[in-house]
Amino acid sequence: MEEKRSNFTGKIGFVLAAAGSAVGLGNLWRFPYLAAQHGGGIFLLVYLILSVTFGFSLMVAEIAIGRKTGLSAIGAFNKLNKKCSFIGYIAAIIPALILPYYSVIGGWVTKYLSVFISGNAKTAATDGYFEGFIGNTAQSLFFFALFIAATAIIVLLGVEKGVEKVSKIMMPILVILSIGIAAFVCISNGVQGKWEGLIYYLKPDFSHFSIMTVVSAMGQLFYSMSLAMGIMITYGSYMKKDVSLESSAHQIEFFDMGVAFLAGLIIVPSVVSYSGIEGLNKGPGLMFVTLPKVFNDMGSIAGNVIGAVFFILVLFAALTSSISLMETVVSIIQDKFHIGRKITCLIVLGGAFLLGVPSALGFGIWSGFAPLGMDILSFFDFITNSVLMPIVAILTCLVICYVIRPKDIIDEVNVSGRFKLAKLFKGMIYVAPALLLVILIFAIFEAFGITFGGLLKF
Ligand code: PHE
Repeated sequence: MEEKRSNFTGKIGFVLAAAGSAVGLGNLWRFPYLAAQHGGGIFLLVYLILSVTFGFSLMVAEIAIGRKTGLSAIGAFNKLNKKCSFIGYIAAIIPALILPYYSVIGGWVTKYLSVFISGNAKTAATDGYFEGFIGNTAQSLFFFALFIAATAIIVLLGVEKGVEKVSKIMMPILVILSIGIAAFVCISNGVQGKWEGLIYYLKPDFSHFSIMTVVSAMGQLFYSMSLAMGIMITYGSYMKKDVSLESSAHQIEFFDMGVAFLAGLIIVPSVVSYSGIEGLNKGPGLMFVTLPKVFNDMGSIAGNVIGAVFFILVLFAALTSSISLMETVVSIIQDKFHIGRKITCLIVLGGAFLLGVPSALGFGIWSGFAPLGMDILSFFDFITNSVLMPIVAILTCLVICYVIRPKDIIDEVNVSGRFKLAKLFKGMIYVAPALLLVILIFAIFEAFGITFGGLLKF
């Protein structure tokens, strides 16, 4: 692997590749439903604050560790200190657990793309359509298999670069189209005098705050920015020394936040306008239940065309992320066991498919099986985002504070220009472990049904 390590050409190359990994279903599917569930405007505010302080600091730290060592997670932690390589291993498990259920959602996107291409916006907008689809064993398995197979074929053929090139064109179009759809939603809500949803999403209301707002915003931050799972370390290992690390981190953060904000602006107010405030608690299905209604309201031709274009763009965003997940798992296994790339891809495909089946069936025939009271997909999502990622993040910060020194990271950033927010970085790296530990404990208690919601409500 190491011999082949090439550099990204310039800053734009790095930012776009990292943004390709970061921007995906996390922004379009996950962010809106969490924002809806955990307080709207207050969630947005908490997310924003965490993102520019902690998210930024961890992003800088990971990229710098990668660039400093020139290695991906396992090797990088090992190089910092032999005793730390176990952190790389925990980090490596996370993408392997995310890939399967990520592909289940990718399958939902593929299904909706097919629905809009065949001109069925109206059917997709009917109540219960989504539930019928995810509850159907054959359909949910088929679309899940299609998405994960597409990911594997791209990784197997080594054409990721091609896909990334296409997505560099698709991503800006996705942003522009999302602005258009968000404008449509805001205007049509405004015309009908339905301001409730917009206000809920945009105005921080402390009465909606609970500890789960912080817990879920923090988990979302890791997920959305591809942090605390070694991925940004790998990207950093490819980064040239003369590319500004600090401004790259700002740009990835800005892009990631922007897409999530827009997705929320489309989905959250629409939910309130179609199904009232009670609709906000729909969970993982929110995007798929709501968007068809929005598109259907655009009229039958426009709705189908815009819906199809939108879902193609979402599919590309999802694919660039799933490719980066699968790549990571494949290269870890390859490095460790020294087996061929093709075989490794097939092993990962098989393993991820098997692991994804329960998540795909958890809304249908296996819905009776509900670990910790969650559907199976949400359970995997919980384990990775709310448990493993905070653990990796805590350990990463501790390594920076006590094994190496924050100064080592700051020096690495300084190589490519003065680190303007060095003080913020240093403060965050010291404060974060305690904060994260509290969040981790709350998340686990909450999952076992011990709620502190009342305790921390304003
Ligand atoms: N950040 C991606 C998203 O928002 C998901 C992802 C996580 C991709 C980890 C790669 C690695 O969809």
